[in-house]
Amino acid sequence: MSYTTNTLENHWMPFTANRDFKADPRLLVKAEGVHYWTHTGRRILDGSSGLFCCAAGHGRQEIAEAVGSQLRQLDYGPPFQWGHPSSFELANRLARITPGDLDHVFFANSGSEAVDTALKIAMAYHRARGEGGRLHFVSRERAYHGVNIGGTSLSGLIKNRETFGGVMPGVVHMRHTWRPESRFVRGQPETGADLADDLQRFAALYGGHTIAACFVEPIAGSTGTLVPPKGYLERLREICDAHGILLVFDEVICGFGRTGKAFAADSFGVVPDMMTLAKALTNGAQPMGAVAVKDEIYETIVDNAPEGAVELFHGYTYSAHPAACAAGLATLDIYEREKLFDRAQAMSERFLDAMFSLADLPAVTDVRGYGMLAAFDIEPEEAPGARGHHCLKRMFEAGLLIKWTGDTGCVAPPLVADDSHIDEIVGIVREVVGSL
Ligand SMILES: Cc1ncc(COP(=O)(O)O)c(C=O)c1O
Repeated sequence: MSYTTNTLENHWMPFTANRDFKADPRLLVKAEGVHYWTHTGRRILDGSSGLFCCAAGHGRQEIAEAVGSQLRQLDYGPPFQWGHPSSFELANRLARITPGDLDHVFFANSGSEAVDTALKIAMAYHRARGEGGRLHFVSRERAYHGVNIGGTSLSGLIKNRETFGGVMPGVVHMRHTWRPESRFVRGQPETGADLADDLQRFAALYGGHTIAACFVEPIAGSTGTLVPPKGYLERLREICDAHGILLVFDEVICGFGRTGKAFAADSFGVVPDMMTLAKALTNGAQPMGAVAVKDEIYETIVDNAPEGAVELFHGYTYSAHPAACAAGLATLDIYEREKLFDRAQAMSERFLDAMFSLADLPAVTDVRGYGMLAAFDIEPEEAPGARGHHCLKRMFEAGLLIKWTGDTGCVAPPLVADDSHIDEIVGIVREVVGSL
């Protein structure tokens, strides 16, 4: 397999060490099943479903055919004041699998756009109820909610916000849920539910009636699988209810089977008021994000607008793009037909056994995991992240792709992976981290 390009210089790559990459590029030119192939013809095992996107594995012909046929039939239609059948069908299908009465779906093109959309829906909802003074938002340390201005403001990752000033005013951060006593705890830690009381403290400090919404990833994903302590999400739900604060679950990573059920909300038995979705919504084959909203929020905003008027002044040129909707529908068909959420549940024990077997490596300082999502921390060197980046490269040389955030390796295999793939992932991690 060969691949040529005159220069890599013109593409300014996202979240990438550009100079380092361009000196020794890692180009992916083909993907099938649980593998990628590089421009030099090497086969690489995909240990993180791309970027938590490709739950049904790569190269799914059903999705490619659905997208191609949609583009031949209707390539594009303006989404403001016009519609096309696939978006309504996809919203119906999503409403069937979302928990509770989260039955209205607003489409965006990425997780970041879904998050910023949810922020605006929260403001519009409270305004429609005559509570437009609710302008505070609550997020959490170590949170990742994308990179648009709203999501950057919610971000609890220092590197993602330090360059960008204070961004949106009125955002406050609860403490994260990682605690030293929970190191190497598998699943939900027994202790730490009390950290949810940070929300209560903000309600006492600012007035609960000034807070619009509380955003959390049920399992904090990008930072490295921080599983919520037992009782934590339930406590957030109670505090939100007590103060009329909307609870938003950012399920961009957790959604679509990663936790062994359709959504983490189902796995943890807590129903939020809104859920942000992206990534595995289309199996990564088309860019798409979405916000699933409970009926009362939709009805409040829509019914409060004058008859015939636009109710929410928000949307994207590519909201509900026909190709993305086709990919979403074909993806949901695969999840259903191949029972991939059940498969994830069934595989989880085996996967977590394998991941937690890494605990004996001297460089590994923590392992966490739930469902088919896990992470391990390695002892940092003087420059935080340098050792993680070294591992990323060594693992790639050894035939494995996983996502690294600083000195944390994130593992989330496609849900079609089998035992041998899990063993291979953990074998390569052991070989590389064991040699540090
Ligand atoms: C929880 C969460 N929210 C939002 C995003 C942003 O999604 P995107 O990169 O599609 O904008 C991500 C991306 O990893 C995420 O993990």
